[in-house]
Amino acid sequence: MKTYYSEHFTIGENGHISLDGLDLVKVAEEFGTPAYVMSESHLRENCRAFTRAMRRNFGERCKVAYASKALCARFLYPILASEGIHADVVSGGELYTALKAEFDPKHLHFHGNNKTVAELEMAVDCGIGSIILDAMEEVDRLEAICAARDIHQRVLFRVKPGVHADTHAFISTGQNDSKFGFGIQDGEAMRMARHILEQEHLDFSGIHCHIGSQVFSLDGFARAAKIMFDFFCQIERELHITMDELIVGGGFGVKYMPEDEPGTFDEKIDTMGKVLREEAEKQGRVLPEIVIEPGRSMVCAAGCTLYTVGSVRDIRDGRCYVSVDGGMTDNPRFALYQANYDAVVANRAAAPRDKLQTIAGRCCESGDLVARDLQFQAAKAGDILCVFATGAYNFSMASNYNRVPRPPILLICDGVVREVVRRETYEDLIHNDL
Ligand SMILES: Cc1ncc(COP(=O)(O)O)c(C=O)c1O
Repeated sequence: MKTYYSEHFTIGENGHISLDGLDLVKVAEEFGTPAYVMSESHLRENCRAFTRAMRRNFGERCKVAYASKALCARFLYPILASEGIHADVVSGGELYTALKAEFDPKHLHFHGNNKTVAELEMAVDCGIGSIILDAMEEVDRLEAICAARDIHQRVLFRVKPGVHADTHAFISTGQNDSKFGFGIQDGEAMRMARHILEQEHLDFSGIHCHIGSQVFSLDGFARAAKIMFDFFCQIERELHITMDELIVGGGFGVKYMPEDEPGTFDEKIDTMGKVLREEAEKQGRVLPEIVIEPGRSMVCAAGCTLYTVGSVRDIRDGRCYVSVDGGMTDNPRFALYQANYDAVVANRAAAPRDKLQTIAGRCCESGDLVARDLQFQAAKAGDILCVFATGAYNFSMASNYNRVPRPPILLICDGVVREVVRRETYEDLIHNDL
């Protein structure tokens, strides 16, 4: 059987593309478009691949914590929990979603460079596993919250390792000029460590970094891991404390376009593992618990989006625009980062990819594109398009711009497709209008 993009997508005798054996043209007919469709088995494979790679490198002293920002909806958390995956959250909304899905709060940690007092209280009150502090003022706020309740809270803080990730500037976060974290070289990070240590109700347990997203080079991960572990040891030495957790972030790049070569999960984790084990030997200590936070790489490839083509505009001496019934409202990544996507005509997926076309969204914005200059089957009105790799940062970044209702998420599991997030209605759109 011919596969496309990943082995989960197959092209049948009738030329239709299927996900985990379900004909996506039929799925579009049954549920309508636009629609996000996800493969539960692919999600689970990713959970297991990360867990295996981490265990191989770090034994039992490791955790895989899914970065909720990539995709946050209730259906996901029971799947993660059943695979032994922890999670991070970056807002009260993500925390609320995880809690409503009955995810163990002890298996959550909370990030963010400007968490509100209400969010900190919510986190403390639910018994969250840890809070990753990211501002001096936040230390004082959290101490006050914990003192008022006479409880202790486990905390880490965010460090900038000074590593520049080779990715889009908007998703590069490890360099010194970043709104996130405290610099090592300028002494800010050590000052933050001392400040946390002075607090009576905060249990200072470790440090965290995240160098950026959609990172392909192994070198950035290796350098960040070494710098972070060395700094971890320096804090312990200078402040005479013992910490037990080092979070090295997420950011593992994924394949969007056929030419992308992001490498395997294994080689990324093995690279970090090798550096960390060597450093531990040099420093003469065992490694603390090592935590990774994959977001995009956990969910991206497991999802696709189905659209219906409304019109095709072939401009003489210009582009051919294929307009679909969604766009930047369900996938703003082209508008934000000029991120390109791969697609096929789902009902003629076996036909030659013989025409250069641009997939345009339906919003009143020229920048509302899904894919630019993509070679795929000549599309016509009524065709179903399948856009690959939309599992991450699509649903979670979707909006109601132009008052377009958000699509549903359909989950395929054991040959059955079901709606796990329902399609928004016009009534939903005016729900909060007073
Ligand atoms: C702190 C933190 N951890 C993890 C991630 C996940 O990154 P990715 O989705 O690229 O794996 C992010 C993304 O911005 C992040 O800010």
